[in-house]
Amino acid sequence: MWKGRFEGETSDLVRRLGESISFDWRLYAHDIRGSIAHSRALLRAGILSIGEQAAIEAGLLEIRDEIARGGFAFSSDLEDIHMNIEASLTARIGAAGAKLHTARSRNDQVALDVRLFCREETEAIEGALRALQGALVEVGARHPDTVLPGYTHLQRGQPVLFAHHLLAYVEMLDRDAGRLGDCRRRLNVLPLGSGALAGSTIVVDREAVAEELGFDSVSRNSMDAVSDRDFVAELLFVLGLLGVHLSRMAEDLILWTTVEFGFVTLSDAHTTGSSLMPQKKNPDVAELTRGKTGRLLGNLVSLLTILKGLPLTYNRDLQEDKEPLFDSVDTIKLLLPVIAEMVGAMRVNEDRTRAAAADPFLLATDIADYLVVRHVPFRQAHEVVGKLTAFSLREGRGFPDLTLEEFRSFSEVFAADVFGLFDVRNALEARRATGAPSPDGVAAELARWKTRLAIA
Ligand code: ARG
Repeated sequence: MWKGRFEGETSDLVRRLGESISFDWRLYAHDIRGSIAHSRALLRAGILSIGEQAAIEAGLLEIRDEIARGGFAFSSDLEDIHMNIEASLTARIGAAGAKLHTARSRNDQVALDVRLFCREETEAIEGALRALQGALVEVGARHPDTVLPGYTHLQRGQPVLFAHHLLAYVEMLDRDAGRLGDCRRRLNVLPLGSGALAGSTIVVDREAVAEELGFDSVSRNSMDAVSDRDFVAELLFVLGLLGVHLSRMAEDLILWTTVEFGFVTLSDAHTTGSSLMPQKKNPDVAELTRGKTGRLLGNLVSLLTILKGLPLTYNRDLQEDKEPLFDSVDTIKLLLPVIAEMVGAMRVNEDRTRAAAADPFLLATDIADYLVVRHVPFRQAHEVVGKLTAFSLREGRGFPDLTLEEFRSFSEVFAADVFGLFDVRNALEARRATGAPSPDGVAAELARWKTRLAIA
């Protein structure tokens, strides 16, 4: 695009290595938005005439529409989106186009574009995340009485409401949404005006540009601003952790759909068959969710690795920030709606959850609590119920099938009312503290989430 001090041609191999247009074309609308704001600042600074600025703005809008329509011919000789647009503008409007890059470098330009991209995407992702929360809340609300075992170490622990289990994911996703918001707030700073690294002798009103582009403030150090990609790293972390949450949820669903658990059945639309085994119905969506989390985490590590050795300020290594960023954004935007759809369409097999929740050993802790209320120290109560459990297993009879005499042979404190414990409903109703899975508590949480997510 410019020859200047160069006499020789760039090697074709270098061109292939160095081009970013094949992926950074996606920044075109952000680039044009930034350039229009910059041209207005140049007008106010007396660098552009009204006519020149108007020609630039019209030319840029024309290019934007052409790219949106798919009618723009990108050239890899022009390396990146910034040069493709600028060259095309100058070809269209002549000398005025060649003035646009005054008081600006691609270093502050690309930093601006990437911030605008991230800001927009955090909003879109937050919307998709809220929709998934909504799907989970709705499924929970459709099954308010479904009980299933809660697990630790993947061993049956204590009974919980199915809705309580789903709401655990709603809470995780809420923290993810909070982190997206934090990330957006911190990245919403205008880098434009930092120039290559040391600002410019042509002074433009950066505050006005910030205002026009919706930034909360302007960067305070030009060297930091052109080399800072913390906001990309933060976003990749937030998306990575969100992926980890989705992957954990996927793992629960994969387990629940096995014949061994059988708690839920996924719809045909969200499962696949086996090319060999005709009986199979595989939870591929959940598996791909779990698998794609690998690339989300890889993208974060890629970027941190790119950043760790960079001296101030801009280095071309930074061009490598975009593919991990785009990939994580695309991956999450692909996953969130399909998971929401799958969760919304899954069937809960109440006979299986009920049978699993009827396991009397789930109430072992409740028996210990029974003794505690009757003044047996918890450690002693734990020991008593441990022995009782061993006895019950040996006998092949669950707690409800033991006699009062048998109970009393382990502790004199047991009385006939111990049999009142063996009702899962009672066991849940007793768990009344905030955050615990009593039916009333879970109903209140579902209602609170419905209000927060504006679900009818
Ligand atoms: N394509 C480059 C990138 O993404 C734009 C900035 C290039 N700046 C430079 N001084 N070569 O980082």
